[in-house]
Amino acid sequence: MKGKFISFEGSDGAGKTSVLRAIRADLEKQLGAAAVMYTREPGGDHISEQIRQILMDSKNTAMDARTEALLFAAARRQHVVADLKPALAAGKVILCDRYVDSSIAYQGAARHLGEQEVWQINQFAIDGLMPELTIYLDIPTELGLKRIATHRTDEVNRLDKEQLDFYHAVRHSYLRLAEKEPARIKTIDASQSLDQVIADVKAAMHAKFTDLFANEF
Ligand code: TYD
Repeated sequence: MKGKFISFEGSDGAGKTSVLRAIRADLEKQLGAAAVMYTREPGGDHISEQIRQILMDSKNTAMDARTEALLFAAARRQHVVADLKPALAAGKVILCDRYVDSSIAYQGAARHLGEQEVWQINQFAIDGLMPELTIYLDIPTELGLKRIATHRTDEVNRLDKEQLDFYHAVRHSYLRLAEKEPARIKTIDASQSLDQVIADVKAAMHAKFTDLFANEF
């Protein structure tokens, strides 16, 4: 049995969580829950979840950018060995919320560590395991930030500008990756309605793996 490894990427505010929830539910309906594995990075087994806690702890403001990149890569390594490889060997369809492209875009580009450098440390971590298909949900930076803003003033302060620069860098890195690897990375316009985005994602998954969502096409 051979599984399918599909990753989902996007800037914050692209609607990845809602899209993935719908895709997962519909795929489980079609294939049965046991045939689908949903997982997210950073995270996975109890060891990678512990690394996630360190990364997400708001008290860790002093964390160096390279430390952060290495911890994301370490969590990924554990995820590969403990979760992804066994699921693939069992023939499952893996829906993975973020994978190595997140590190290239966030740490490599937005945190200025260098996309190539971050790719290198991640090669050590993933040891050749790449998704066959990556769904990239693309949204203009301003629109994405507007979607996640809880309260917003029109005042452009320093933080706003920094945030904008950061997410511009994330987006352009993803767009560059998608241009470089068109066979693996499919870009979906996430500024559309949620229903349309979900339909486009299903079409991209079906185009790559004709047995997925076969009942809908
Ligand atoms: P999470 O709460 O899971 O958010 P999201 O729903 O956006 O995926 O937090 C993940 C955050 O970690 C997100 O801001 C992206 C960031 N991240 C990196 O910076 N590098 C990585 O390699 C990964 C996997 C995530």
